[in-house]
Amino acid sequence: MPLVSMRQLLDEAAKGGYGVGAFNVNNMEQIQAIMEAARETESPVIVQASRGARSYSQDRFLYHLMLAATELYPEIPTVLHLDHGNSPETCKSAIDLGFTSVMMDGSLLADGKTPSSYEYNVDATRQVVAAAHAKGVTVEAEIGCLGGIEDGHGAGGSGMEHLTDPAQAAQFVGDTKCDALAIAIGTSHGAYKFTRKPDGEVLKMDVLIQIHKLLPTTHLVMHGSSSVPKDLQDIINKYGGSLKPTWGVPVEEIQIGIKNGVRKINVDTDNRLAMTGAIRKVLMETPEKFDPRDYMKPAREAMKKVVAQRMVQFGQAGHAKEIIPIPMAEMAEMYKKA
Ligand code: G3H
Ligand code: 13P
Ligand code: ZN
Repeated sequence: MPLVSMRQLLDEAAKGGYGVGAFNVNNMEQIQAIMEAARETESPVIVQASRGARSYSQDRFLYHLMLAATELYPEIPTVLHLDHGNSPETCKSAIDLGFTSVMMDGSLLADGKTPSSYEYNVDATRQVVAAAHAKGVTVEAEIGCLGGIEDGHGAGGSGMEHLTDPAQAAQFVGDTKCDALAIAIGTSHGAYKFTRKPDGEVLKMDVLIQIHKLLPTTHLVMHGSSSVPKDLQDIINKYGGSLKPTWGVPVEEIQIGIKNGVRKINVDTDNRLAMTGAIRKVLMETPEKFDPRDYMKPAREAMKKVVAQRMVQFGQAGHAKEIIPIPMAEMAEMYKKA
């Protein structure tokens, strides 16, 4: 089947009461890992590329790999989403290339680190909504800012400085008509989110629940949702790495989120950890090897295992067959009528 819009997948997820993982990609092996996990678990899936990923892969390579994925996995409803678009121009270039969903992250200025004003965010998001919806493309927006800056997107700090204000979130959705809303509840990108297992002091599930009460039909998005599992940290450290002790977002908390309107869950770091651990293991145990396939195959397998596990935990497993793709032109018509 062709690439589908994210709006369709999230509407289905809302009906079914499940969440959909959005996994970041930069290369062929990561796309293959996700598609294999989706086939094994019969899951619809969101594949996302950041600006960094687009630049690393010269984005046309990535786009054509995604077309190959739709040919080779025709039974899997697949979205190609732009992660953290930093300006309307970046989003428009993704739409022109054929992405079926874009994120306009107007919570930050175009530098990806300076918190913006409400007015700036509304203006940038509205521009993208107009361009995207005209082509049936979905728009995710963000209100409030994530912490950290490790991956080049975030306001720095612990994640508690720019939590989403529920009343402002409600106003923002009304002002922009975005399809999905990323919220800040204390998480950060990367491996170093929390210095202990997070409780309600640092991971503000209460804020998420308040937002869902005000916006019961809005698809909420959790960024910075890697769980940073101890076993993946241990593999890296066992084979020569030096990760400091750290905690991510426990899967049980994400599952509470899913019961309260979260439909898209962003995961990148866990897959990075899994791949790096597998590569380190091969290189340490068999230093005589030099064929990249000798370490890329275990890396791909390690990522597939993590993605398949998340697909089951988020509840998307088994739902691929329920989705009959709505053509993008039909999505555009729906937006025009709305
Ligand atoms: O939002 C962060 C994602 O993990 C993507 O990171 O910009 O390094 O590709 P990246
Ligand atoms: P993690 O760094 O927790 O995997 O978050 C990824 C993310 O939010 C991408 O937008
Ligand atoms: Zn993010």
